[in-house]
Amino acid sequence: MAKQFDVAVIGAGAAGMMCAAVAAQGGKRVVLLDHAEKLAEKIRISGGGRCNFTNVNAGPLNFLSENPHFCKSALSRYTPQDFLALVKKHRIAYHEKHKGQLFCDESAEQIIQMLKDECAAADVHWRMPCKVEAIAQAPDGAFLLSTDSGDVEAASVVVASGGLSIPKIGASDFAYRLAKQFDLRLVEPRPALVPLTFDDAGWAPFAPLSGIALEVEVTTGTLKGRNPGGARFREDLLFTHRGLSGPAILQISSFWQPGTPIVVNLLPEMDVAQTLIEGKGSIKKQLGNVLSQWLPVRLAEGLLAATGLAADARLADLPDAALRKLGLAINQWSLVPSGSEGYRKAEVTRGGIDTRELSQQTMMANKVPGLYFIGEAVDVTGWLGGYNFQWAWASGVAAGLAL
Ligand code: FDA
Repeated sequence: MAKQFDVAVIGAGAAGMMCAAVAAQGGKRVVLLDHAEKLAEKIRISGGGRCNFTNVNAGPLNFLSENPHFCKSALSRYTPQDFLALVKKHRIAYHEKHKGQLFCDESAEQIIQMLKDECAAADVHWRMPCKVEAIAQAPDGAFLLSTDSGDVEAASVVVASGGLSIPKIGASDFAYRLAKQFDLRLVEPRPALVPLTFDDAGWAPFAPLSGIALEVEVTTGTLKGRNPGGARFREDLLFTHRGLSGPAILQISSFWQPGTPIVVNLLPEMDVAQTLIEGKGSIKKQLGNVLSQWLPVRLAEGLLAATGLAADARLADLPDAALRKLGLAINQWSLVPSGSEGYRKAEVTRGGIDTRELSQQTMMANKVPGLYFIGEAVDVTGWLGGYNFQWAWASGVAAGLAL
């Protein structure tokens, strides 16, 4: 005989634990199943081990989705302040880093413990490690879950099994397979918040710059018009052996379309060409020395090599056209990535269950009563900076209250 529950939540990550706790606190008999050996690894490794658990400024504009309106309802009904109230109730010390990002003072482990405690307070049942292999729906609408440790029957199922990023800690395509089974559309999944790579030959001159970090402005796509398809971020960039990383690149990677360029402004505070041309009369120094006042020395040398200018050339001796070319290389460095580091390194998966298939109030599939999708499995992807957890909490609460 299969064990019977009101609700089975598949995936005990951020969204799943939140949803299970809320549904159980509302009086439902809930079972939470996860195939991982270790609970909530993504929370544990998040924010460098301190979990950037929300962002005080989180709003619909910080999320990508084919339907940008979908996330509004859940986000407005469970706000960063609501999650913060929970964090305070559990006496977890936290601090704000830049741009509204909230982190634990001590450890991400505290957020996991908090969610476990919330589940325990409402008698959530656990099955872990337990892999859900298949789901079938009976004629009366109930769901039968086949797992590697026996069957489970539930009136409702919440799919909180996440996206494809970081397969080595349990990511699976389970949500997408289920969507296909129930004839729900999928927005093509893609790695997001991910370092970008370049072909070996093209990147060879920049590979020695690995380790250099600086604040830049990076853009991609079109920013103007009725349907802007691009984005602009001002954050730190990091050179790596294979390409570019750092918050600026992770942010822009979610918007980048393969085959198109990203444009990096390495000195966003300065019009480099104009400054150099105006300084020809008064700046007596050699070009290399001038640039290394503004940029890391190795980067200045690399840029001069790439533009064919000698580091020991005197500014006054250089034609304006050469300085304009150098200015462009610094203020509008345009480069076409060959790809990304993929799901192995991506913090999230862009795309997922098409939101047009779901109720924005409850997260239930419109054509499969009793089947819900929450968290990263859904086509709602946050920027870097605590937004993805806020979506996990908010969508988990929306479903949890509706069950
Ligand atoms: P999540 O992936 O957390 O959970 C899904 C669960 O489902 C997993 O536990 C998995 O084992 C289980 N599962 C999958 N298939 C199953 C099956 N068939 N049967 C049973 N169980 C199954 N975000 C943020 O806001 N702030 C931050 O600081 C960070 N930092 C960060 C760092 C790194 C390195 C990564 C990879 C990601 C982040 N993120 C982040 C993103 C954030 O971690 C992510 O968006 C949420 O964890 C998504 O929560 P979910 O609950 O939707 O999925």
